[in-house]
Amino acid sequence: MRRAIPEVPILLIIVSIVLFSCEKDVVTNKAESAVEVSASNEDFKLCETCPPGFELTEDGVCRLRSIYQQYRSLEDQGVGGLKTALPEVRDGFTPEQIDLGRYLFFDPILSKDGTLSCATCHQPEKGFSDGLATSVGIAGQQVDRGAPSLWNVAFLKLFFWDGRATTLEEQMQGPLFAENEMGTTPKELLSKLNGIENYRNMFQQAFPNSGEKIGLENVYTAIAAFETSLISLNSRYDQYAHGFHGALNKNEIEGLNIFRSFVARCAECHTPPLFTNQQLAVLGTPEPDGKPLDAGAQIPYNDPTLRGAFKIPSLRNVAKTAPYMHSGRFKTLRETVEFYTKGRGHAVPEGENLYLHWHIWEPNLTDTELDRLVDFLQTLTDESFMPKQPDRLPSSP
Ligand code: HEC
Ligand code: HEC
Repeated sequence: MRRAIPEVPILLIIVSIVLFSCEKDVVTNKAESAVEVSASNEDFKLCETCPPGFELTEDGVCRLRSIYQQYRSLEDQGVGGLKTALPEVRDGFTPEQIDLGRYLFFDPILSKDGTLSCATCHQPEKGFSDGLATSVGIAGQQVDRGAPSLWNVAFLKLFFWDGRATTLEEQMQGPLFAENEMGTTPKELLSKLNGIENYRNMFQQAFPNSGEKIGLENVYTAIAAFETSLISLNSRYDQYAHGFHGALNKNEIEGLNIFRSFVARCAECHTPPLFTNQQLAVLGTPEPDGKPLDAGAQIPYNDPTLRGAFKIPSLRNVAKTAPYMHSGRFKTLRETVEFYTKGRGHAVPEGENLYLHWHIWEPNLTDTELDRLVDFLQTLTDESFMPKQPDRLPSSP
């Protein structure tokens, strides 16, 4: 019998979970909080080192380092064998830009009424989603769809469920300026940020060659820099893929095999190692009761064949991001997986004639197979590069 004695995976397993931050420790002890230390510029000195998983290059930017980069197999070949390379990553931001983005991401000052930050709907402990079927914006306003996870957005080429944005910078202008989300305006946002000395100093640290005034482009760059630092590639599945066979148990391996099989066909769309092939697909996912069909990508692409098409989501950290699908219709992974076996088009509303993707059919998976798929999906969790939430915000130190 072959015994796996992997060198690299052992190193991977002992990666400690250190919340990445250069913040000074804040004393939260009650007795001492009476002697409030007033914030000085020194308190908001930005990080000069890259987040874990990144290496600082000679030109002062952070580059991702992952074992997957040693795999040479071409992207989009076959159904994503264990040694498939990752798609190209968006990196190359400075440590200061990433750290500034972290503060902005958690700061409700970015919303019109100061109640909502990006992190309200993208909560770190919920896989950077919000646990709601559909999100809620300022003043309790409903948003049409659910908040997706932000882990590994550095690898994505399309954003939003309907794929209507192609860059993170373009994407974030959606929530920032939508009346039912953060509800601010470019003018209002800049006037608020420019009115805060801490932020003026921090933007100087992150963008030393920019003028005195904070500009919109730099706000977008910093937030994008932070988002691209949310890397999750060290799950038990990854350890298995890198050759440590003991990382998955028998049930989980069975689940992986079903996932990659030509019966279930999950991997045709949720292609490893990112667990998405980054395309749009029509599944005929049901809406919550009483809600009309969401036309999805038909609208931005003005293409009737994309009616009801949505972006194929990555499944990394999917155990953390319930409820599932664009409308949050399914509460559990078991329910979600069961949807796929109930038959092609079974949930399409009457009168609709959708162009269902040809990999959506009726695989007739047994209850046990569905359970194994869920077991496998739970091995895709890795939060070892979880960023630290700021103890204090530059807007309200
Ligand atoms: C009110 C809740 C809410 C807030 C606040 C919010 N988002 Fe989102 N976010 C969502 C929802 C809902 C979607 C999906 C919308 C859709 O697809 O139509 C989304 C989508 C995204 C996506 C696309 C992910 C993907 O895989 O396509 C990114 C990236 C993102 N948000 C980042 C941000 C950033 C950065 C901020 C702060 C500037 C922010 N969000 C603020 C709810 C929110
Ligand atoms: C034809 C491509 C395709 C195939 C095949 C496919 N999926 Fe999906 N999957 C999608 C799309 C598209 C969505 C989002 C649909 C929506 O929001 O309405 C999705 C969503 C999901 C989600 C929810 C993720 C989230 O964040 O909400 C899970 C879990 C999932 N799929 C698992 C599977 C499993 C397990 C299989 C195999 C049985 C499978 N998928 C097969 C395209 C596919």
